[in-house]
Amino acid sequence: MHDAGYAHLIAAQSTMIVAENAMKWRALHPESGHYDFAAADRIVNFAQRNGIQMRGHNLVWHEAMPEWFALSVTHENARQVLNSHIRTVMGRYSGRMHSWDVVNEAIHTEGGRPDGLRDTPWLELIGDDYIDFSFRAARAAEPFALLTYNEFGLEYDSDADGVKRTLVYEMLRGLRQRGVPIDAVGIQSHLRAGTNETIGYGLRSFIRQCRGLGLKVFVTELDVDDSRLPNDVAVRDAAVAEIYKNYVSLALEEGVSAVMMWGITDRYTWLDKAKPRPDGAHARPLPFDEKLQPTSAFFAITEAFRQRNPPQGKPVRAEAF
Ligand code: XIL
Repeated sequence: MHDAGYAHLIAAQSTMIVAENAMKWRALHPESGHYDFAAADRIVNFAQRNGIQMRGHNLVWHEAMPEWFALSVTHENARQVLNSHIRTVMGRYSGRMHSWDVVNEAIHTEGGRPDGLRDTPWLELIGDDYIDFSFRAARAAEPFALLTYNEFGLEYDSDADGVKRTLVYEMLRGLRQRGVPIDAVGIQSHLRAGTNETIGYGLRSFIRQCRGLGLKVFVTELDVDDSRLPNDVAVRDAAVAEIYKNYVSLALEEGVSAVMMWGITDRYTWLDKAKPRPDGAHARPLPFDEKLQPTSAFFAITEAFRQRNPPQGKPVRAEAF
């Protein structure tokens, strides 16, 4: 993508970035055994040039699979295909990644299995131990990156999110018990404004439980869907900003060690397609608007960080001469 203003904004504002799609299977592995690293390389090189850390997303997911996969992967070759994808992709960027989402969105509460495992091609082809297999393959391929399990639907105090938190926690506990190499859990954090759902005790206790397992906790895909709010920009921005303030404060209080946004500017938010507003207006879910100007969300996030880490030493006062 050639958008100099956008690139400049990322370089100025980010200490860590993640490719939104460029490291998914469909992008990296378009034909069996054939990889295309062009787009991913550009992002990794951009990060390196600008002194920005990089997350990898993702290695095992039920979405964004290339067409050849369903046609040629079988029970017989699935482990070999997955292992070789993991080795090739992680190996290419070895030593340059802060963390990798090894497995993404493996729990589905409505799937009906007592362990909550989502019915995916990987479960079907490899079997119930496919998550163990993936993390072991990942550690063998790349000893430096923090290996992460990444999931959505964990944030709200609702019963549904509570059930999911329990299943995810049990899954993580099992991994730790079996000595599977996992370092972190990623809480995606796709939030919604304009509902009366609350975020508090459920998420707090989940983060504590995960940290109790010795895992780091990352917020990995934070944004706020404003599609339920009225058109008025001031109203939307105020509601979105408040959610950010509360959420980031909670995360920092609970010892979350990285906060990543799913995009930086409304110019390129996925929500315009994924959750379009009924009035057709563009969504305003991110800290910079379509003109790359900071919104109330930006100041809310900054304030949450500032309150957690107040500037050290004597405040500097600007003097007028
Ligand atoms: C989304 C991208 O933002 C879209 O551009 C793409 O069309 C679909 O995937 N959870 C994830 C991300 O883990 O990979 C998803 O990204 C958003 C939800």
